[in-house]
This record gives sequence, structure tokens and C-alpha cells, in this order.
Amino acid sequence: MLPTAVKFAPSILACDFTRLGTETEAVSSAEYLHIDVMDGLFVPNISFGLPILEAVRRSRDALGAGQLLDVHLMIERPERYLEAFAAAGADSLSVHVEATPHVHRCVQTIHELGRRAGVVLNPGTALETLRPLLEGVDLVLIMSVNPGFGGQSFLPQTYERVRTVRRWLDDLGSPAELQVDGGVTAAHVRPLAEAGASVLVAGSSVFGPGGGAAGLERLRAALR
Ligand code: DX5
Ligand code: ZN
Repeated sequence: MLPTAVKFAPSILACDFTRLGTETEAVSSAEYLHIDVMDGLFVPNISFGLPILEAVRRSRDALGAGQLLDVHLMIERPERYLEAFAAAGADSLSVHVEATPHVHRCVQTIHELGRRAGVVLNPGTALETLRPLLEGVDLVLIMSVNPGFGGQSFLPQTYERVRTVRRWLDDLGSPAELQVDGGVTAAHVRPLAEAGASVLVAGSSVFGPGGGAAGLERLRAALR
């Protein structure tokens, strides 16, 4: 029996953008859809922004899927755009602790906007940074690669970081999700679940050969 129920968050960064509607529909049974926003400043890559989120939101609403749109903001000073991303359809908004001196205020703003608030840590950021934030957040995201690109290799030190944060959340009695993002393949699913992760983000290993539905099923199968 695993310590936590594990949910999946396919990352649309790995989609074929000419077929975005079809690709996201194929994974509509996943609990979350992960939307990676990159500004070319906080990370050395530019992905997409508000219009893509609006389009995904429209297609999700048309499908009637109960899936949550989980927006991962890899942008400098995310406080400038929280309202816009909430209006564009985000159900949850996650901000990097490295991207602003006002991460606590960001969490407050996200809650005022009626959305779930997440905080994200890069692999090189001390876990202690999380401590003052833990009580107020709905989601903690531990990066298992340096953010900016899909298709990188999973960093094994992530397991220990996940175990530590799981312990802190349990000690607080916090129901916050513990998410892991970057390089997650079927081989990592069970060990991450055992370490206490509750949401696994995956791009390349979902939207690879065979399509998203098959990719998601391969990850789910690793739990059985
Ligand atoms: C990396 C992004 C990830 C990425 C994951 O900066 O935050 O969400 O899309 O993609 P894979 O699973 O290919 O590492
Ligand atoms: Zn991400």
C-alpha cells in the first residue's frame, strides 16, 4: 500500500502544438493538466502564455472534463501576471521562490483570486526556504530537473527532498499536494510515490510515441 494516492499532470510542453486540442483530449482522464509558462528570463527558454491557456481552458470546458489546469509560472516577478493567468483559466498557480522576494504575498494574492496556490523549488534551492510558506499553500512543487526545457534527465537527489517535504507536510497535518516535475518516466513513478509525492508531472514520457493516452496509461500501470 502506497503512502499517498498518486495523481498525474501531463505537461503540454511536450505536445504537438498543431494538434493541441486532440493531444489534450487524449489525456483528459488525468487529474491535472500542467501548463509550463516560460519567459526567457527566469529560465533560458520561452514557451507560451495567456492565449494558449485560454484555448486549453475553452477546450477543457467544452469537453466537460473535471481536470484542473495547473499553471507553472517560470517567470520573473510572477506577481505582475497572477490576475491575468487566473482570468485566463488557471485553477492553480505555482510560483518559484527564486523568482520574487514576495513569494508569500504571491500566495496571498492567488488565494484572493480564488485559485489554489503553489510554491516551486529549483533543484539547487535549500528546502528550508519552504518552511515559512508551508502552512499556507495548496501545493509544493519540487523540481527534478533545472527548469526551462522538457526531455531532461531526472535528478535522483529528488527522492530525498521529497521524503523531507512529505515529513514536514505530515507533521503539520497539511493536505497540500506534493508535486514533482521534470524527467519523470515510468521507472520513477513507484519510488516517487513511496517517497510521498502525490502529483507527478510528465511531458515527454506521456506525449511520446504512441500518443498521450498510451503514455499516461504506461505511467499509471507503474503503480499497479
Ligand atoms: C521543465 C518543465 C516541465 C517539463 C517536463 O521546465 O517545468 O514541466 O515540461 O517535461 P519532461 O517530463 O519532458 O521533463
Ligand atoms: Zn512544469
